Amino acid sequence: MEHAIKSVEYDRPQGLTCGIGQAWAKVPDAPSREEKHELKERIRALLIREKAVLVAHYYVDAELQELADETGGCVADSLEMARFGRDHSAQTLIVAGVRFMGETAKILSPEKRVLMPDLDATCSLDLGCPADEFSAFCDAHPDRTVVVYANTSAAVKARADWMVTSSIGLEIVAELHARGEKILWAPDRHLGGYIQKKTGADMLSWQGSCLVHDEFKGVELDLLRAEYPDAKILVHPESPEAVVALADVVGSTTQLIDAAVRLDAKRFIVATDLGILHKMRLAAPGKEFIEAPTAGNSATCKSCAHCPWMAMNGLANLVAVLERGHNEIFVDPAIAARARLPIDRMLDFAARHKKRVQASGDLGKDVSLFSNVGAA
Ligand code: 13P
Ligand code: SF4
Repeated sequence: MEHAIKSVEYDRPQGLTCGIGQAWAKVPDAPSREEKHELKERIRALLIREKAVLVAHYYVDAELQELADETGGCVADSLEMARFGRDHSAQTLIVAGVRFMGETAKILSPEKRVLMPDLDATCSLDLGCPADEFSAFCDAHPDRTVVVYANTSAAVKARADWMVTSSIGLEIVAELHARGEKILWAPDRHLGGYIQKKTGADMLSWQGSCLVHDEFKGVELDLLRAEYPDAKILVHPESPEAVVALADVVGSTTQLIDAAVRLDAKRFIVATDLGILHKMRLAAPGKEFIEAPTAGNSATCKSCAHCPWMAMNGLANLVAVLERGHNEIFVDPAIAARARLPIDRMLDFAARHKKRVQASGDLGKDVSLFSNVGAA
């Protein structure tokens, strides 16, 4: 398959400062309506033939989300994707998301075949935290408990004591802080800053960022809020502090959808990847969702609120991977065994604290299962 390539700039931390890195993403094909219909039919049949289940993130195309839901897979945040893949009986998992999600699925289910539509779908947080540099950072601070975000490579997780996702990071760090532990946090500086502020923990943070969320702007968001004073503001905590400060609710993707359903408001301003709007509109019909402003009025938008790597998941490459069985995720077994420890710690913590057991794919049932959705 031939693709146009676009170059992508991202934050590339050097020690405790931050430079700029250059990456690339493939520009997805846009099939016609007839082609879409035919591709979807083939995917439904191939999922049955391969006894495979589709595990998708809320930021991928609406068509992929619908296919996951209607074929018994799941559409979820990264915590639920990990848990769903681990607990499902299918021996082949198709992960429609970015690479760290496929790696986490493989680490949790080494006996399963984990395939992805495109193995080059990465994440600016993962790219901005190379394992060797991160390991040296950990070596320089041996007195700190190492907590890493899910959006990292298997090798970075293998260096950690805990892995967290945005839906549970706050509670885990709060508990570590209560035990008197000092934290070394990586890689997202905004999520780290948010958790630090909420918990008061002693946190030394890597300086990475998500190129989608880093672009949301506090000043412009404030102006938009003045235009729509009745709107509630929903913010993913990978966003900058000035944006989080304006939020009515800060949470993971699932938690933001939950809030859109639960809150008694007719209008919402949403500061996260616009892929989430599909599920929000389904879950909360009749409510209005407005995208939060990115990069100011005159600046060039780097992502325009859509992750260039999530966008690499399409119907055509999903068909190809199901037909050919290529694009399999492999993780070095020694690294996987070590990386599993911090992931299992998080999942055990979630089970102990009765975080949601499993995404059913039915938002009518899945909402209102969280305790830490709250104002900034
Ligand atoms: P969630 O765990 O909230 O789905 O976030 C994953 C991600 O990559 C957000 O940019
Ligand atoms: Fe990574 Fe940001 Fe894309 Fe999520 S949206 S996968 S954090 S680059």
